[in-house]
Amino acid sequence: MRTRFIVGNWKMNKTATEAVDFAHRLTQELPSVEGIQVGFTPPFTALHATRGALASNPAFLLGAQNLHWEEKGAFTGEVSGPMLKDLGCEFVLVGHSERRQYFGEQDTWTNRKVLAALRHGLMPILCVGETLQERDSEHTDAVIERQLRAGLAGVDGPGLAAVTIAYEPVWAIGTGRAATPQQAVPVHRKIRSIVGELGGPDAARRLRILYGGSVTPKNIADFLSCEEIDGALVGGACLDPLSFATLIKVAIGSHPTTAS
Ligand code: 13P
Repeated sequence: MRTRFIVGNWKMNKTATEAVDFAHRLTQELPSVEGIQVGFTPPFTALHATRGALASNPAFLLGAQNLHWEEKGAFTGEVSGPMLKDLGCEFVLVGHSERRQYFGEQDTWTNRKVLAALRHGLMPILCVGETLQERDSEHTDAVIERQLRAGLAGVDGPGLAAVTIAYEPVWAIGTGRAATPQQAVPVHRKIRSIVGELGGPDAARRLRILYGGSVTPKNIADFLSCEEIDGALVGGACLDPLSFATLIKVAIGSHPTTAS
């Protein structure tokens, strides 16, 4: 049984002061979280403050939005795995489509970042997803396969067991136009089968695959009713503590009802 994982990706939002306020309001709304894991990826500048404010609940995990693959050195503006680990991070996003789209992140880099995260004891969440043009021209499977095989190159069995995949169709991010579960589930299946080819049936069975793209408190239950969808990577709807608390409560009460 895979533990469901809801991750709030703050992107470039919230100062450290705002993060502490958010954390206090969220914990008031959610005194206990059981049965699922909840992750937060504040900006680097708010990681320390968020850790302090959310540390009371072991179901809450702290993560970063990016990392550099080297441990240290002359890489101005970059942050490394050991630095994140030292701040209490347990996981890190890799290859988010905004990094690919706006910062030229390539598959070779996502691969180095996945390997670096694993080397430093951080659980990588490798993000994959197609653009609208790629979906319309029926290239979704090929794009996902390329991003996945390239991103996971050289990852061994124990490494695969620590990896989470987030399927985020680019056209669904920040648009209010979420994929339907009927659109997402076949892609999740494809991801699981590729990971099965890479690491065997156990790796495939254990792999957590999150859906991301316009997830809200209203549609989260539909996604989590699908056995193939192990959680969500949430952007806009995670920024307000009330909205995110509602989404988490719905997630705690949601169980798979459709075999996939
Ligand atoms: P939205 O939930 O705002 O669509 O963002 C999704 C996302 O990119 C999470 O990483």
